[in-house]
Amino acid sequence: MDTELLGRIKQLIERHTGCSFFNYKPDTFQRRLLRRMFCLGIKDMADYETYLAKNPKEYTALLHSLTIKVSEFFRDPEIFNYLEQAVLPAIFKAHAQKNDYNIRIWSTACAYGEEVYSTAILILEYLQRMEDAERSRWHITILGTDIDPLAVEKAVDGVYSIKSVKDILPLHPNAFERIKGMPNHLQIAPEVRGMAQFVCFDIATAKRLSPPAGIFAEYDLIYCRNVLIYYDCQQKLDTLYRLYTCLCPYGYLVLGKAEGIPDELSACFIQVKPGIKIYRKENVHG
Ligand SMILES: C[S@@+](CC[C@H](N)C(=O)[O-])C[C@H]1O[C@@H](n2cnc3c(N)ncnc32)[C@H](O)[C@@H]1O
Repeated sequence: MDTELLGRIKQLIERHTGCSFFNYKPDTFQRRLLRRMFCLGIKDMADYETYLAKNPKEYTALLHSLTIKVSEFFRDPEIFNYLEQAVLPAIFKAHAQKNDYNIRIWSTACAYGEEVYSTAILILEYLQRMEDAERSRWHITILGTDIDPLAVEKAVDGVYSIKSVKDILPLHPNAFERIKGMPNHLQIAPEVRGMAQFVCFDIATAKRLSPPAGIFAEYDLIYCRNVLIYYDCQQKLDTLYRLYTCLCPYGYLVLGKAEGIPDELSACFIQVKPGIKIYRKENVHG
């Protein structure tokens, strides 16, 4: 494979979208690029380079093709059980003690929004168990970011097939509502959607510490699940360190089932419970 040509394509992507694939796993990059070329009927990568340079709209389609969007509501239920039972109550308590009623959560690679809305559903149910006066004090922001603009668009819509949510529907019946003219789909209820914001953002670039909507960082909870598996070790390390700096002093980081904190950052995080990939920030730098 022509590595120079691949490098030029990555440069084009970075120049036009601001997203970097230089530390993306080379096999994944190449495989997904070839898939996109196949869809267009282009066999030669040099021809694709020319096509890309002449068709600015192709960047959106390419970003969509390069990334893998597998996700589901309440993925890894043990994580969400622990969040509901222990982490969310701890976050609410810590804020109430400071008379600060703003909670900030960030799902860094949110795919079609499943992780964001799962969290919003749990928080809404938590708030609904409070007295009215107490509930009205709280302001919750759940930010979902993803590198893929098409995924972000879909996340904003919050429309899912009934098939994909059938297992969780009986547990959270008020979280979804019917859509006129779309009998096989449901939309996230407005109250739940109202807690979520979505924006395109590449967590692999070092250019910004936290996403545009999160001016002051200080996140209580950050999800970074099943995304760094597609990047090399240095990228993992750099990104996790940046996320560490975006967390508030007692903030929590959630990783995917097969992921962990690299040894280099072991002093920065403490796992809250063996077997559960939730980590609490350790304030090694004060
Ligand atoms: C396998 S999905 C994981 C979704 C969700 N976090 C979960 O665990 O179910 C990976 C997501 O990461 C996104 N992604 C890949 N590279 C990214 C980057 N550099 N910045 C932000 N999102 C990225 C992809 O577009 C995709 O939506």
